[in-house]
Amino acid sequence: MQAVLKHAESTHQLQKQDIVRLLEDEATAADLFAAADRVRAAYVGNEVHLRGLIEFSNTCKQNCLYCGLRRDNKKITRYRLMPDMIVELARKAQTYGYKTVVLQSGEDPYYSLAMMQEILLRIKTLGLAITLSIGEKTREEYQAYREAGADRYLLRIETTDQALYEQLNPGMNFLNRLRCLQDLKELGYEVGTGIMVGLPGQSLESLAQDILFFKAINADMIGLGPFISNPDTPLKAAGGGEFSLALKVMAITRLLLPDSNIPATTAMEALNKQGRTIALQSGANVVMPNVTEGEYRELYMLYPGKICINDTPAHCRQCIGGKIAAIGRSVAQHAGFRNRKSPEQL
Ligand code: 5AD
Ligand code: SF4
Ligand code: FES
Repeated sequence: MQAVLKHAESTHQLQKQDIVRLLEDEATAADLFAAADRVRAAYVGNEVHLRGLIEFSNTCKQNCLYCGLRRDNKKITRYRLMPDMIVELARKAQTYGYKTVVLQSGEDPYYSLAMMQEILLRIKTLGLAITLSIGEKTREEYQAYREAGADRYLLRIETTDQALYEQLNPGMNFLNRLRCLQDLKELGYEVGTGIMVGLPGQSLESLAQDILFFKAINADMIGLGPFISNPDTPLKAAGGGEFSLALKVMAITRLLLPDSNIPATTAMEALNKQGRTIALQSGANVVMPNVTEGEYRELYMLYPGKICINDTPAHCRQCIGGKIAAIGRSVAQHAGFRNRKSPEQL
């Protein structure tokens, strides 16, 4: 196993079977995390990029079996923030020092193309980088958002097992999701994708395939976290994912995509009090603190146990700054686009 790790650390390549073995093996887990931490330091450095997350609507037309925002969940109160409020949250995020805002919502047709364009153009005048995370759209819409100022787009593939994907996402089509990722790449976005670890019916082989998919599409960003069972969804009885397996998937992803941007996700911290700090020391280099205000935070409930639901944007900014400083890292003072590096540049 040590030879496999060494090979991955120096060549950034792994065979599927070796990924499976690394995922299985407990004895090398600590060495895997240390290797991912070294690759992170060598390729993307000690700076941590902060992205201010604005959860602007919890309304969704989709019905993903795992997600609390699914349209059939009648137990949550739905909200939509109006453009003035969204722009105001972005402006405040900037005053807290964020260089990027992430606009995230369910798939909510209420926000017409014209509305999104207006929001993007207004936020762009603030000089912020903008990441969108609003689901599957047409190529024309992606193009229009891009022209209005969107720089990056997050669209997790969720799982690369097509049958499992279509079972968990009724009415959705795996090939359309791939089409979206392809369009986004062609339109010049920095493209983020990712998965949930520990979905019911997901095998280690499937996770290995997911990691190889990130590599194959050369994803600019990879967000992943454990699946957490939500009592208000059809998967209420499913066992959730494990923190340690999600961390391994993340660490192997860092080995194979050394210069990508990898967030220490909120779901990691939902399962482990130090989850984001541990992730930052096992390959991650990005954190996305919440800048949504007031009651909306707890209404954006993808899964139970979401962190920071009673905290303010100012508190979270200070909290995360403290965690980053405590592990000897610093907060980046620039937008944090992917800095492509080949091994020869080191
Ligand atoms: N547990 C963990 N992550 C979830 N997501 C949705 N529901 C859950 C859950 N129950 C993730 C999906 C989605 C992202 C916004 O949140 O991966 O892409
Ligand atoms: Fe909607 Fe996204 Fe939740 Fe699916 S995962 S129900 S698309 S918010
Ligand atoms: Fe929100 Fe720590 S990041 S309280």
